[in-house]
Amino acid sequence: MADYDLIIAGGTVVTATDTMRADVGVRGGKIVALADRLTGATKTIDASGLLVMPGGIDSHVHISQNPEGAARMADDFISGTRSALAGGNTTLLPFALQPRGASLRDVVTKYHAEADGKALCDYGFHLIITDPSPSVLGQELPALIEDGYTSFKVFMTYDDMVLNDRQLLEVFDCARSTGALVMVHAEGYDSIKFMTERLERQGKTHPYYHAVSRPELVEREATHRAISHGELIDVPIMIVHISGREAMEQVRWAQQRGLKVYGETCPQYIALTADDLKGLNMDETGAKYVCSPPPRDAASWDAIWEGIRSGVFQTFSSDHCPFIYEGPGGKLSPQARTSFKWVPNGIPGVETRLQILYSKGVGEGRITVNEFVALTSTNHAKMYGMYPQKGSIGVGFDADIVLWDPNRREVIRQEIMHGGSDYTPYEGMAVTGWPVMTILRGQVVAEDGRVTAPAGSGQFLKRARSPYAVPKGA
Ligand code: URP
Ligand code: ZN
Ligand code: ZN
Repeated sequence: MADYDLIIAGGTVVTATDTMRADVGVRGGKIVALADRLTGATKTIDASGLLVMPGGIDSHVHISQNPEGAARMADDFISGTRSALAGGNTTLLPFALQPRGASLRDVVTKYHAEADGKALCDYGFHLIITDPSPSVLGQELPALIEDGYTSFKVFMTYDDMVLNDRQLLEVFDCARSTGALVMVHAEGYDSIKFMTERLERQGKTHPYYHAVSRPELVEREATHRAISHGELIDVPIMIVHISGREAMEQVRWAQQRGLKVYGETCPQYIALTADDLKGLNMDETGAKYVCSPPPRDAASWDAIWEGIRSGVFQTFSSDHCPFIYEGPGGKLSPQARTSFKWVPNGIPGVETRLQILYSKGVGEGRITVNEFVALTSTNHAKMYGMYPQKGSIGVGFDADIVLWDPNRREVIRQEIMHGGSDYTPYEGMAVTGWPVMTILRGQVVAEDGRVTAPAGSGQFLKRARSPYAVPKGA
């Protein structure tokens, strides 16, 4: 009998801390050996010339998140996870969204039904709390946290999701007592509403005005408010999808004061600008780039890099939230053509996250390859209670691996994407560095643009509490 099911031979293993020439031995879906040279496997993959890195973990994706009355998402668990694997990811954390009035437990049960038998990669669920009633905060949420849904997101904007300050404080207090990690969408509801109505009165309804309706200071104000609420309750918080200098500086300020405030940023904030929302000469193609917070400007890219390099941001996620551009329920519905406020918010990105960060970050000398691994995999596993099962290459970890060609030049194009949307916002972007093989628990699941994993091969992850949250009972 062979010693290993699989040996990945001849590659350069990269973790968040080390870079080494080593073979990787896999048995029973786990990494069982790392050595200069290994022999005796059922299957050997030649990784010479390639980087051997932990599979990407994308801790912020929206898949099959379809509340009644909203535009239908372009990805279900099959297409979303297929796209993830093709992009070198092995684990996703999508959101089970609580519509107001709904039982959180029912929401989670229904979301499992969406994922069961479909997901091609491993996955856990965050929760989205829109209705923090006494029974939700008193019973349902604590029970779900105990069951492995150990993080949840709250929104400071959007009509059907916004929590007021009192509700935010109640929810933060619940996170404190249960040991959950809170993720905050920080944009100020009233300011956006005011700006939107004013712009509409002025006839400024083109998708570009989406960006004008929610300027950086609206994000800065909400970020500061969330930080203050977190400080009052003495609970750690994660500010997600930070778009530019203003919010980044708020998080840095909080961190410098010793507060447990964490930060996430995304590819759209180093690769797109508000000008993209103008489309081709203020035509409707600008709708393709409508997401919240909106992309800013090239100076904001520099601020985001400053935050990445100085450790303000722990995670680099896609905020994959795909809609189709043309066709029923897409970005260009008849209603959406009447005002930017009806264009569904969100863009696809799970398949291009790694390439964009690698190319602009490692390729252009802004970050090391080890920082790349930390930002795209290891820190997600640590932040959201999946470490040391996921997030690194070492004995005992799941054999979730991406083989990465650091020299491969590609142009991002919709025709080579694997998701359910009909466009990529990064069309035409040239990148250097590309995933050539993805391995999930020791099985090759994607190779050179072909995804081979059968539907349902992904496993649900019951997550531990985040070590970054308040320990339960503290
Ligand atoms: O526009 C975005 N980002 N849509 C996804 C929902 C969210 O706020 O993350
Ligand atoms: Zn959000
Ligand atoms: Zn999101």
